[in-house]
Amino acid sequence: MKLLSYLSSALALLGSAVMAHPVYDELMTPVAPLKRQSGSYQQITNFGPNPSGAKMFIYTPNRLAPNPAIVVAIHYCTGTARAFYTGRPYAQLADQKGFIVIYPESPYSGTCWDVSSRATLTHNGGGNSNAIANMVTWALQRYNADPTKVFAVGESSGAMMANVLAATYPELFNAAIVYSGTPAGCFYSISGGVNQWNGTCSNGQIRSTPQIWAKMVFDMYPGYDGPRPRMQIYHGSADSTLHANNYNETIKQWCGVFGFDPNRPDSTQANTPQARYTTYTWGNGQLVGIYAQGVGHSVPIRGQDDLRFFGL
Ligand SMILES: *[C@@H]1O[C@H](CO)[C@@H](O)[C@H](O)[C@H]1NC(C)=O
Ligand SMILES: *[C@@H]1O[C@H](CO)[C@@H](O)[C@H](O)[C@H]1NC(C)=O
Repeated sequence: MKLLSYLSSALALLGSAVMAHPVYDELMTPVAPLKRQSGSYQQITNFGPNPSGAKMFIYTPNRLAPNPAIVVAIHYCTGTARAFYTGRPYAQLADQKGFIVIYPESPYSGTCWDVSSRATLTHNGGGNSNAIANMVTWALQRYNADPTKVFAVGESSGAMMANVLAATYPELFNAAIVYSGTPAGCFYSISGGVNQWNGTCSNGQIRSTPQIWAKMVFDMYPGYDGPRPRMQIYHGSADSTLHANNYNETIKQWCGVFGFDPNRPDSTQANTPQARYTTYTWGNGQLVGIYAQGVGHSVPIRGQDDLRFFGL
């Protein structure tokens, strides 16, 4: 009883504080950590130009490493930053390793990412990809983070965005992990629409050559000739939302970019990292494909493995 009445008066106090500045509090007050996380989860509204209106949330662990790494963790359609924060392992891993997690949030109803407009498929084009790049730049400065340790990981629509980020901001990202996505540009909308669903792509009917897929990537940042992020592509063979052919096409895309032969990986490991998964590796880990036999949409996230791929 005592505890309860203490709690309710504390809540009442909190409530009046919130009432006093509803907008300010909603936007800027750190949200109480929901479970094991000990650090701070909050929304950042002033991270820079943001014409597409994407939202930025950030998790900083209590023990932040000096010059921390940054992991951008990108939600699926119908997901939110908070759902990804509470439902995926990155914040707990950040507590262990001292890196920062940026959780961007889609501004659209249904919360799919815009991976279809010319704007988002262009370096500094003003779309969602540009917004996420600006979030990274903001966090690099604010936390004196390590610009050589910036990573993206996404699931489903977030996986598509991770591919798009790797294509549009190769100078910013060191590596990206794609859980059940589509190649960068595969969701392109001929009408120029923002946040459009492309059924031909999702059904696995877009097939192209490594050269054409690679040109799509190169055209997203014309003239760029610096290093490209390492890529790890997960997909389930039984995916009925984003057909498994998207695995093969994504592999072809990055093989085209890096100059690898999609039919000749440097190594093929059966039952790795678990039974019925096969791991294909090109060029000393520059490109890794993990094809999960019998797994649907989407492949469950493997947080510890992600950190190993990122080198954290
Ligand atoms: C779907 O995407 C492909 C590129 O992957 C594009 O050629 C096609 O026009 C798109 N469909 C629509 C309806 O925009
Ligand atoms: C796609 O790649 C996987 C793994 O290499 C292979 O098992 C499958 O047959 C390929 N599918 C197509 C349509 O080429």
